[in-house]
Amino acid sequence: MENIKLGIDFGGSGIKGGLVDLNKGELVGERHRIETPKPAAPQPVAEVINDIITHFEYKGDFGVAFPAAIQSGVVRTASNIDKSWIGSNAEEIFMQVTGHPNKVLNDADAAGMAEVKFGHGKDIKGVVLMITIGSGIGTAIFSNGVLVPNTELGHIHYKDKVAEKWASDAVRKNEDLSWKKWAKRFAEYLQYMEKLFYPEIIILGGGASKKFEKYAEHLKDVETKVVPAKLQNQAGIIGSAGALL
Ligand code: BGC
Repeated sequence: MENIKLGIDFGGSGIKGGLVDLNKGELVGERHRIETPKPAAPQPVAEVINDIITHFEYKGDFGVAFPAAIQSGVVRTASNIDKSWIGSNAEEIFMQVTGHPNKVLNDADAAGMAEVKFGHGKDIKGVVLMITIGSGIGTAIFSNGVLVPNTELGHIHYKDKVAEKWASDAVRKNEDLSWKKWAKRFAEYLQYMEKLFYPEIIILGGGASKKFEKYAEHLKDVETKVVPAKLQNQAGIIGSAGALL
Protein backbone atom coordinates (compact mmCIF):
# COMPACT_ATOMS: atom_id res chain seq x y z
CA MET A 1 0.00 0.00 0.00
CA GLU A 2 1.22 3.51 -0.80
CA ASN A 3 2.57 5.37 2.20
CA ILE A 4 3.44 8.97 1.30
CA LYS A 5 4.07 11.76 3.82
CA LEU A 6 5.45 15.27 3.66
CA GLY A 7 8.83 15.82 5.31
CA ILE A 8 10.34 19.28 5.90
CA ASP A 9 13.93 20.14 6.74
CA PHE A 10 14.41 23.52 8.45
CA GLY A 11 18.00 24.53 7.70
CA GLY A 12 20.07 27.65 8.32
CA SER A 13 19.85 28.82 4.70
CA GLY A 14 16.86 26.97 3.24
CA ILE A 15 13.64 25.27 4.32
CA LYS A 16 13.15 22.23 2.10
CA GLY A 17 10.12 20.01 1.75
CA GLY A 18 9.41 16.85 -0.17
CA LEU A 19 6.88 14.06 -0.46
CA VAL A 20 8.44 10.87 0.83
CA ASP A 21 7.58 7.30 -0.07
CA LEU A 22 8.05 5.68 3.32
CA ASN A 23 8.06 2.16 1.96
CA LYS A 24 11.10 2.92 -0.17
CA GLY A 25 12.69 5.76 1.82
CA GLU A 26 12.91 8.08 -1.16
CA LEU A 27 11.43 11.33 -2.44
CA VAL A 28 8.50 11.24 -4.81
CA GLY A 29 9.17 13.99 -7.35
CA GLU A 30 11.16 17.17 -6.76
CA ARG A 31 11.75 18.79 -3.40
CA HIS A 32 10.65 22.41 -2.89
CA ARG A 33 13.05 24.91 -1.27
CA ILE A 34 12.36 28.37 0.16
CA GLU A 35 15.02 30.65 1.69
CA THR A 36 15.02 30.58 5.48
CA PRO A 37 13.49 33.88 6.68
CA LYS A 38 15.75 36.27 8.59
CA PRO A 39 15.27 36.33 11.50
CA ALA A 40 14.26 32.64 11.55
CA ALA A 41 11.55 33.37 14.14
CA PRO A 42 8.45 31.21 14.81
CA GLN A 43 5.81 33.06 12.76
CA PRO A 44 7.81 33.58 9.53
CA VAL A 45 9.16 30.01 9.64
CA ALA A 46 5.65 28.61 10.16
CA GLU A 47 4.45 30.68 7.17
CA VAL A 48 7.19 29.24 4.94
CA ILE A 49 6.18 25.74 6.05
CA ASN A 50 2.60 26.59 5.18
CA ASP A 51 3.75 27.73 1.71
CA ILE A 52 5.51 24.38 1.23
CA ILE A 53 2.33 22.51 2.21
CA THR A 54 0.35 24.63 -0.25
CA HIS A 55 2.95 24.01 -2.98
CA PHE A 56 2.41 20.25 -2.68
CA GLU A 57 -1.38 20.64 -2.16
CA TYR A 58 -0.74 18.34 0.77
CA LYS A 59 -3.55 17.30 3.11
CA GLY A 60 -2.16 15.07 5.88
CA ASP A 61 0.19 15.26 8.84
CA PHE A 62 3.79 16.30 8.24
CA GLY A 63 7.21 16.00 9.90
CA VAL A 64 9.78 18.74 10.56
CA ALA A 65 13.53 18.22 11.04
CA PHE A 66 14.37 21.16 13.30
CA PRO A 67 17.86 22.58 14.04
CA ALA A 68 17.58 22.46 17.84
CA ALA A 69 17.10 20.10 20.76
CA ILE A 70 13.38 19.21 20.87
CA GLN A 71 11.48 17.65 23.76
CA SER A 72 7.86 16.68 23.06
CA GLY A 73 7.62 19.45 20.46
CA VAL A 74 9.21 22.10 22.71
CA VAL A 75 12.33 23.89 21.43
CA ARG A 76 15.15 23.82 24.01
CA THR A 77 18.09 25.45 22.18
CA ALA A 78 18.57 28.08 19.47
CA SER A 79 22.10 28.18 18.20
CA ASN A 80 21.44 29.06 14.56
CA ILE A 81 17.81 30.19 14.77
CA ASP A 82 16.03 33.09 16.44
CA LYS A 83 16.29 32.93 20.24
CA SER A 84 12.54 33.55 20.57
CA TRP A 85 12.03 29.85 19.73
CA ILE A 86 13.36 28.75 23.12
CA GLY A 87 10.62 27.32 25.31
CA SER A 88 7.97 27.49 22.59
CA ASN A 89 6.05 24.48 21.37
CA ALA A 90 6.93 24.25 17.66
CA GLU A 91 4.29 21.58 16.98
CA GLU A 92 1.54 23.83 18.36
CA ILE A 93 2.79 26.86 16.40
CA PHE A 94 2.88 24.86 13.13
CA MET A 95 -0.58 23.45 13.89
CA GLN A 96 -2.01 26.95 14.46
CA VAL A 97 -0.54 28.36 11.24
CA THR A 98 -1.03 25.37 8.92
CA GLY A 99 -4.01 23.58 10.43
CA HIS A 100 -2.15 20.26 10.05
CA PRO A 101 -0.99 17.94 12.82
CA ASN A 102 2.78 17.53 12.77
CA LYS A 103 5.79 15.99 14.47
CA VAL A 104 8.91 18.05 15.15
CA LEU A 105 12.26 16.46 15.95
CA ASN A 106 15.95 17.38 15.94
CA ASP A 107 17.35 17.55 12.39
CA ALA A 108 20.37 15.29 12.97
CA ASP A 109 18.13 12.75 14.73
CA ALA A 110 15.82 12.82 11.70
CA ALA A 111 18.72 12.37 9.25
CA GLY A 112 20.18 9.57 11.37
CA MET A 113 16.84 7.76 11.58
CA ALA A 114 16.57 7.83 7.78
CA GLU A 115 20.12 6.46 7.38
CA VAL A 116 19.54 3.72 9.98
CA LYS A 117 16.33 2.67 8.27
CA PHE A 118 17.26 3.09 4.61
CA GLY A 119 20.93 4.02 4.28
CA HIS A 120 24.40 3.21 5.55
CA GLY A 121 23.29 2.67 9.15
CA LYS A 122 20.98 -0.20 8.21
CA ASP A 123 21.52 -3.49 10.08
CA ILE A 124 24.61 -2.20 11.87
CA LYS A 125 25.18 -3.75 15.29
CA GLY A 126 26.76 -1.45 17.84
CA VAL A 127 27.04 2.31 17.72
CA VAL A 128 26.24 4.41 14.66
CA LEU A 129 27.21 8.08 14.80
CA MET A 130 25.51 10.47 12.39
CA ILE A 131 27.05 13.93 12.05
CA THR A 132 25.40 16.65 9.96
CA ILE A 133 27.59 19.47 8.74
CA GLY A 134 25.90 22.73 7.79
CA SER A 135 25.24 26.02 9.58
CA GLY A 136 25.96 24.05 12.75
CA ILE A 137 27.13 20.54 13.58
CA GLY A 138 24.34 18.14 14.47
CA THR A 139 24.75 14.64 15.90
CA ALA A 140 22.68 11.52 16.41
CA ILE A 141 23.77 8.35 18.20
CA PHE A 142 22.18 4.93 17.73
CA SER A 143 22.93 1.74 19.60
CA ASN A 144 21.68 -1.35 17.74
CA GLY A 145 19.36 0.94 15.80
CA VAL A 146 17.91 2.71 18.86
CA LEU A 147 18.33 6.50 19.02
CA VAL A 148 19.43 8.49 22.06
CA PRO A 149 17.75 11.80 21.06
CA ASN A 150 19.16 15.35 21.24
CA THR A 151 22.82 14.48 21.79
CA GLU A 152 24.03 17.99 20.73
CA LEU A 153 27.68 16.97 20.34
CA GLY A 154 28.27 19.90 18.00
CA HIS A 155 28.31 21.94 21.21
CA ILE A 156 31.01 19.95 22.90
CA HIS A 157 34.03 22.07 23.83
CA TYR A 158 37.17 21.30 21.92
CA LYS A 159 40.34 23.40 22.18
CA ASP A 160 38.42 25.94 24.27
CA LYS A 161 35.90 26.41 21.47
CA VAL A 162 32.38 25.16 20.86
CA ALA A 163 33.04 22.53 18.16
CA GLU A 164 30.48 23.86 15.68
CA LYS A 165 31.90 27.39 15.96
CA TRP A 166 35.23 25.95 14.80
CA ALA A 167 34.49 23.13 12.36
CA SER A 168 31.03 23.61 10.77
CA ASP A 169 30.51 24.24 7.07
CA ALA A 170 29.40 27.80 7.89
CA VAL A 171 32.80 28.39 9.55
CA ARG A 172 34.56 27.01 6.46
CA LYS A 173 32.69 29.54 4.33
CA ASN A 174 32.96 32.50 6.76
CA GLU A 175 36.67 32.04 7.35
CA ASP A 176 37.23 31.19 3.69
CA LEU A 177 39.07 27.98 4.63
CA SER A 178 40.28 25.64 1.88
CA TRP A 179 38.70 22.17 1.98
CA LYS A 180 42.05 20.85 3.19
CA LYS A 181 42.30 23.32 6.09
CA TRP A 182 38.71 22.80 7.12
CA ALA A 183 39.06 18.99 6.86
CA LYS A 184 42.07 19.10 9.18
CA ARG A 185 39.86 20.69 11.86
CA PHE A 186 36.97 18.37 11.15
CA ALA A 187 39.25 15.31 11.32
CA GLU A 188 40.35 16.39 14.81
CA TYR A 189 36.72 16.65 15.81
CA LEU A 190 36.06 13.15 14.42
CA GLN A 191 39.09 11.76 16.28
CA TYR A 192 37.68 13.23 19.48
CA MET A 193 34.25 11.72 18.81
CA GLU A 194 35.65 8.28 18.07
CA LYS A 195 37.63 8.28 21.32
CA LEU A 196 34.46 9.10 23.25
CA PHE A 197 31.99 6.77 21.52
CA TYR A 198 33.88 4.09 19.55
CA PRO A 199 31.27 3.98 16.76
CA GLU A 200 31.21 1.21 14.13
CA ILE A 201 30.61 3.83 11.45
CA ILE A 202 30.37 7.62 11.15
CA ILE A 203 27.84 8.87 8.60
CA LEU A 204 28.15 12.46 7.39
CA GLY A 205 24.99 14.34 6.44
CA GLY A 206 23.92 17.93 5.81
CA GLY A 207 25.03 20.16 2.95
CA ALA A 208 28.67 18.99 3.11
CA SER A 209 27.67 15.33 2.53
CA LYS A 210 27.34 16.09 -1.20
CA LYS A 211 30.90 17.46 -1.30
CA PHE A 212 32.52 14.45 0.38
CA GLU A 213 35.00 13.86 -2.46
CA LYS A 214 36.41 17.36 -1.93
CA TYR A 215 37.64 16.60 1.60
CA ALA A 216 37.61 12.81 2.11
CA GLU A 217 41.35 12.42 1.41
CA HIS A 218 42.14 15.06 4.06
CA LEU A 219 40.27 13.30 6.86
CA LYS A 220 43.51 11.87 8.24
CA ASP A 221 44.04 9.59 11.27
CA VAL A 222 40.37 8.76 11.73
CA GLU A 223 40.17 5.03 12.41
CA THR A 224 36.42 4.63 12.08
CA LYS A 225 34.86 4.08 8.67
CA VAL A 226 33.49 7.47 7.52
CA VAL A 227 30.90 7.63 4.72
CA PRO A 228 28.66 10.33 3.27
CA ALA A 229 24.95 9.76 3.90
CA LYS A 230 23.43 7.44 1.29
CA LEU A 231 20.37 9.70 1.25
CA GLN A 232 22.69 12.74 1.06
CA ASN A 233 21.06 16.02 1.97
CA GLN A 234 17.56 14.47 1.67
CA ALA A 235 18.06 12.45 4.86
CA GLY A 236 16.44 15.16 7.04
CA ILE A 237 13.34 15.35 4.83
CA ILE A 238 13.02 11.55 4.68
CA GLY A 239 13.65 11.09 8.41
CA SER A 240 11.16 13.74 9.48
CA ALA A 241 8.45 12.15 7.34
CA GLY A 242 9.45 8.74 8.73
CA ALA A 243 9.01 10.02 12.29
CA LEU A 244 5.25 10.16 11.64
CA LEU A 245 5.02 6.36 11.54
C1 BGC B 1 21.89 22.64 17.05
C2 BGC B 1 21.50 21.20 16.86
C3 BGC B 1 21.37 20.89 15.38
C4 BGC B 1 22.61 21.30 14.63
C5 BGC B 1 22.47 21.11 13.13
C6 BGC B 1 23.14 22.93 16.24
O1 BGC B 1 23.49 24.27 16.39
O2 BGC B 1 22.12 22.92 18.41
O3 BGC B 1 20.29 20.93 17.51
O4 BGC B 1 21.13 19.53 15.21
O5 BGC B 1 22.92 22.65 14.87
O6 BGC B 1 21.46 21.89 12.61
